[in-house]
Amino acid sequence: MTSVGIDAIEIRTGSLKLDLPGTFAPAKDEDPEKYTKGLGLNASSFPDSYEDIVTMAANAAHRLMERKGLRPNDVGRIDVATESAFDNSKPVSTYVAGCLEQVNDGDFHHANKGERKFACVAATQAVDDAYNWIRAGRNRGRAALVIATDTALYARDDPGEATQGAGAVAMLIDEDPSVVEISTEQGYGSADETDFLKPQQQFPSVDGKRSMQVYLARMREALEDFESVSGDTHPDDYAYIPFHTPFPGMVRKAGLLGYRHMIRDTPVEDELAEEIGRQPRREAFGVSGQGPEASGTSSHVDEAGYEEAVREHMDALKGTDAYHEWYGNTIEPTLTISREVGNWYTGSVHVARASALQHALENGVDLAGQRLLVGSYGSGAQAEIHAETVVDGWEEEVRAFDADEQLAERYDLSFEEYEEIHDAHNHEKDTDVDPVTVPEGEFAFTGWGRMGEREYEYVN
Ligand code: HMG
Repeated sequence: MTSVGIDAIEIRTGSLKLDLPGTFAPAKDEDPEKYTKGLGLNASSFPDSYEDIVTMAANAAHRLMERKGLRPNDVGRIDVATESAFDNSKPVSTYVAGCLEQVNDGDFHHANKGERKFACVAATQAVDDAYNWIRAGRNRGRAALVIATDTALYARDDPGEATQGAGAVAMLIDEDPSVVEISTEQGYGSADETDFLKPQQQFPSVDGKRSMQVYLARMREALEDFESVSGDTHPDDYAYIPFHTPFPGMVRKAGLLGYRHMIRDTPVEDELAEEIGRQPRREAFGVSGQGPEASGTSSHVDEAGYEEAVREHMDALKGTDAYHEWYGNTIEPTLTISREVGNWYTGSVHVARASALQHALENGVDLAGQRLLVGSYGSGAQAEIHAETVVDGWEEEVRAFDADEQLAERYDLSFEEYEEIHDAHNHEKDTDVDPVTVPEGEFAFTGWGRMGEREYEYVN
């Protein structure tokens, strides 16, 4: 069977940075450790006033095409995943193609372009579409360009303001890939949820605490669904587990839940039992596997007792050396970039994968042939889990990442500048703000066209 997966990855951050413990926390009169220790964030990325979802996407895609020596004719599909689109009809991918045509010989008239929407899980769905297109043999030897791009801004003073971010991830999906091969097996956890949405509005309506519960519930469902086709998962099966990362503290919760699930009924649980006891079993509390509403008519159902026992066990599990070691090796390395950029919505899980690969390269990990378990999530809500196998040649691809340079070059905003730039990107405000950085060798937003379209130019 044809091997299909990710052949190249490029990221593009917004050019500005907001220091969360140093600048944001003092201005909000909050403890900086809420950011560094609680949420797990040091900084957020923001777009300058000449940047937006199109420039970030086009800049990432342009670098990818240049680096891989691709011409438009080599790309048969451009899919953009975003939840920050500014047009309900014309997809962002057409703008991106227009930008790329400015700097490439040839055009993308032959390429199928679209836009994917399902909150943060949409880019994973677009990767899926590309995978299926190639597997179906409809690609005529061409590769697919999948780009996740978002300006994840919240209304000022919304609790989500702490988790903002802006950036794009471009991925080339192709046969015989050079980074990872994607598994056929997938698991889903999907339900009609009202936790985070943008009903015809720029900034989200969010029930933050509930969104975290929904994330965990759908992720667990997706893991069980994945196991139903791939067999039980075990913590030692995966070199890294990149999760959707709205903020690293969320992944801390997901990692613990995942570990508890994966070690159940394994020798790892037996070994830990001596230290912290065995995991509470639903049956012992008369609780069925389907949750409280399906607990049946048993006269001894003790849902609250079960929940309490689970909480206590999780607290104990969190303190074990075995868990610490696994988390440090498998999850922590996925969070490095995210800590510095915040939530990139659709790009977030793909940033987590990139972060893990970069960590492996820097630490000389022999990753070829090893597997990743990738947990994507989008509010509203859907989780998707699949596996990936790292392939020979991955080091060369990852060596080409310039994430560290990009992050280091960002302009460090003062709180007043942050307020101005937030206003500049607020669609309801007519605020013109001078850029604080100078575009160079990149696409920039230049103004509005006669039909209200946004216009872009490559600035040398
Ligand atoms: P909040 O009320 O500002 O923060 O909202 P908090 O008081 O809950 O504190 C956050 C954590 O910091 C807590 O840790 C505190 O204990 C800790 P936890 O108890 O949860 O482990 N903390 C401290 N730690 C050390 N020292 C201190 C300190 N103070 C507090 N001094 C919330 C947090 C995440 C709710 C908010 O930022 C929010 O609404 N964010 C937006 C929604 C979101 O990100 N949800 C995540 C799941 S949904 C998702 O991922 C989808 C999404 O990406 C969208 C999409 O799919 O399109 C968002």
